[in-house]
Amino acid sequence: MLKNRSIISIADLSDEDINEIFTEADKMLENLNSGQKMNDMESRILATLFYEPSTRTRLSFESAMQRLGGSVISMADSKTSSTSKGETLADTVRIVESYSDIIVIRHPLEGAALLASKFSSKPVINAGDGSGEHPTQTLIDLYTIRKESGSIDGKTITIIGDLKYGRTVHSLLSALARYRVNVNLVSPESLALPKHVYNEIKGRLKVNVSTDLEPFLAQTDILYVTRIQKERFTDKNEYARLIGSYKITGREADMLPSGAIIMHPLPRVDEISPEVDNREPAKYFRQAYYGVPVRMALISMIAGE
Ligand code: NCD
Repeated sequence: MLKNRSIISIADLSDEDINEIFTEADKMLENLNSGQKMNDMESRILATLFYEPSTRTRLSFESAMQRLGGSVISMADSKTSSTSKGETLADTVRIVESYSDIIVIRHPLEGAALLASKFSSKPVINAGDGSGEHPTQTLIDLYTIRKESGSIDGKTITIIGDLKYGRTVHSLLSALARYRVNVNLVSPESLALPKHVYNEIKGRLKVNVSTDLEPFLAQTDILYVTRIQKERFTDKNEYARLIGSYKITGREADMLPSGAIIMHPLPRVDEISPEVDNREPAKYFRQAYYGVPVRMALISMIAGE
């Protein structure tokens, strides 16, 4: 049961919770497709508190809430809120919880969502805390694999890009460790997976680590591509040195076995060339679309009747 629970880390969800969310998301997807009107969240308010840029995450949470018949209040830019006057996160959360029934927060500091949940009697959902975690993106990622690749168990997943700062990668790997999958981790050396995440998954998953993608392509069922997280670099020259260090083009897409899929949490910069977009394996726009039914499921399970 998810009722009234905060979701800060993917570890907050049991295998059973995750399966329940997927079953509910299937129903939501069906309702969306058939145009059925929903009122699960009538007279409820969702607050989005975003201290970092976002397109998909904030808008899909807001779309999900409105599709469920609820309403949304939003702080989409901390520069236009009292944060710019020096208000602390704790104080902001104490106020926002009295205006809403569920709070979705994104913040540049790791641990910020956990802190927010301590000051709120209403459930808090972590929509990204610095380089920490992004658990609802992981639910969408797993849901996409199930929908577009049939199942999660038995798959070989190759994750390429910024494994160091990419929070979607951290949550995804932690979740994948619950399944029977093989994982290939590909990144420039300086963007390798943090030790604490590696230690969590090693021994539970078969993991290969490399700086070279090509040898893995023919064996890959799911290619999960990520953006270099520019905003986390203190040294902008280092970012300039790394940007463009890998790129998925038609050539790489052609090296995947038939039935393989390409995913990306988006936004992309230049790591997948647009020529890939209309090819069979490209599922990243579909993945973004699944954000709505998955978040509808989550909101109604946490804050519904
Ligand atoms: C991701 C994020 O914010 O961590 N975006 C998203 O929520 N879909 C990935 C990214 O910004 O690279």
